[in-house]
Amino acid sequence: MQKKPTSHIFLVGFMGSGKSSLGKKLAAVLRYDFVDTDKMIAATAEKSVADIFAHEGEAFFREKERETLLQLSGRENIVVSTGGGTACFHDNIFLMNRLGTTIYLEAEPKLLAHRLAKRKDERPLLRSVAQGDLEEFIAGILREREPFYRQANLTLPARNLTARAILAAIKTTFPSEE
Ligand code: S3P
Repeated sequence: MQKKPTSHIFLVGFMGSGKSSLGKKLAAVLRYDFVDTDKMIAATAEKSVADIFAHEGEAFFREKERETLLQLSGRENIVVSTGGGTACFHDNIFLMNRLGTTIYLEAEPKLLAHRLAKRKDERPLLRSVAQGDLEEFIAGILREREPFYRQANLTLPARNLTARAILAAIKTTFPSEE
């Protein structure tokens, strides 16, 4: 039987896969604290993620993601919603796997494009992509990122996923933590 620390639960996956909304609900069910790495980074920088990308650049933002995960290693009983790219830079997926349980919320480009269509302007990587090209653009990045997301301990289909279903999957996969 696999043993796995569940005091840190990380949700990883593409933009629009539901990491933040499901993370909040999962934290409430578990009575854990909820942390959104994008919000932490924005709060520390006192500017939005879009402004960080525009002024300091993506590489700087990726450094901040790494630092944020390292800061969170000292916390306990938290559900962490990561940014869509967090798992794919700086060996972060391996760091998260060491710290706790990682869950990939898997969604196909069509669903992601549908969910992101109205909110793409908040996302620096999608801003300049024309609405009609969105699905294809997402499919391209997803192909590059999947090998990282797939290192997560659990992969769950994002469509219609609930916090209780995530919890059930964690308990089934890691029953020794009960
Ligand atoms: C990013 C996803 C965003 C945010 C930033 C970069 C990415 O987070 O971290 O815009 O590289 O996929 P969400 O997945 O919460 O939108």
